[in-house]
Amino acid sequence: MTETIIGRVLTSETPQSTRLENVALLVDTDGTIQERTLQDTARYDALSGRKDAVWLPDDALFIPGLTDLHIHAPQWPQAGMALDRPLEDWLGTYTFPLEARYADPAFAESVYDDLVRTLLENGTTTALYFATIHKEASLVLARTCLRYGQRGFVGLVAMDHPDLCPPDYRQTSAQEALDATRRFIEAVRTLPGNEYGLVQPVITPRFIPACSDALLEGLGALAAELNVRVQTHASESDWEHQHVLDRTGQTDTHALDRFGLLRDHTVLAHAGFLDQTDRTLVKNRNAALAHCPISNAFFAGAALPVRDVLDEHVHCGLGTDISGGYSPSIFENARQAVLTSRLLESGTNPHLPVSERGLPKSRIDFQEAFWLATRGGAEALGVSAGQLMPGQMFDAVEILGTSGALRLHPKDDAATCAQKIVCHASSQTIGRVWVNGRQIKEKASHPC
Ligand code: GUN
Ligand code: FE
Repeated sequence: MTETIIGRVLTSETPQSTRLENVALLVDTDGTIQERTLQDTARYDALSGRKDAVWLPDDALFIPGLTDLHIHAPQWPQAGMALDRPLEDWLGTYTFPLEARYADPAFAESVYDDLVRTLLENGTTTALYFATIHKEASLVLARTCLRYGQRGFVGLVAMDHPDLCPPDYRQTSAQEALDATRRFIEAVRTLPGNEYGLVQPVITPRFIPACSDALLEGLGALAAELNVRVQTHASESDWEHQHVLDRTGQTDTHALDRFGLLRDHTVLAHAGFLDQTDRTLVKNRNAALAHCPISNAFFAGAALPVRDVLDEHVHCGLGTDISGGYSPSIFENARQAVLTSRLLESGTNPHLPVSERGLPKSRIDFQEAFWLATRGGAEALGVSAGQLMPGQMFDAVEILGTSGALRLHPKDDAATCAQKIVCHASSQTIGRVWVNGRQIKEKASHPC
């Protein structure tokens, strides 16, 4: 049966322009938006007259579901902790030992259940996940997405380099990692309940320093053979960027391309040290960047020049990078994307003259952050969502206009709504959530 959904809809038209309209949406049984009809038309009156129509309250509005373009599910237990070391120490001291615990699928069950629920409470309808090297635990994550109805892209992590990876947390050879990745892809594609492909496998070399050349080459070949998306970290920090330059003589982007890993919808996380040549290559391959502004404040030592990324029309969305970033909220990262860009523009050292302090023309505004959180993330992955337009899947979030710290007024225009939502949205301001036309979260699933 089709479903009729009626209310105000806020969507991005371009990164710089946002639309706010009263519409009636007709959604197919498979979750595709069949029709989008504006108020004050005969068709709108016919649809809104249906007895079973779902209405939004007057002070609420729909936005497209949010995409988290980079998140480490196994690191959820240390979110908000352990951010006192540089990336290369943090990995060995805290993160690899935590991830090694996922050899126990029961541990994964409890963490992943809590995480996926928390993400839905924060409006994340699509997530691109790093899991761990363990097949069983990574399948637990895939099943958890399916159980809750979240659109999930899940990667079994591949890492075999003995110099960087500890003996108890790495695959013992390139071949072992390749075999495990192949088996994982097959297992996700044939999971019971995944007949419509709500959950997809992703080839996931952790980052070049953690992988041998043989592994990177093999994963590139596997991506082409099985037509699977790829995700990895790229040019994240001074240390990481230089490490790859020293080892390969190339930037991460160019090295990944040489290994066949820079493909349609490949997502490069962080990517702050990419230069314009790298970004042009990303664009030419139809790959994308995951901007993780909170994590970058701790590990990158620099800010992604997101203004340039947008102006160059390189695909880009936002990532929480749990637990390099502490917040599970894409709205929180959208706020920080704006703030970081402002600090990049102004500079921060008050002892320098204004003319030398910052990088002029670096800022993005709130509408652009809203675009990154919704449409940018969906387009990066090639998911037909992100705009609530006909032909797209109905992945949507109900924003409660007078809840938490949010105060939307009836006269607020689209740009104002986008700005207020980016500034004030939280789990408290999120009502119902839909993925593929299916309502997967009630108005208040948690008492706060
Ligand atoms: N580089 C390699 N692994 C990781 C990780 O888990 N988090 C972050 N932020 N960067 C990485
Ligand atoms: Fe990361």
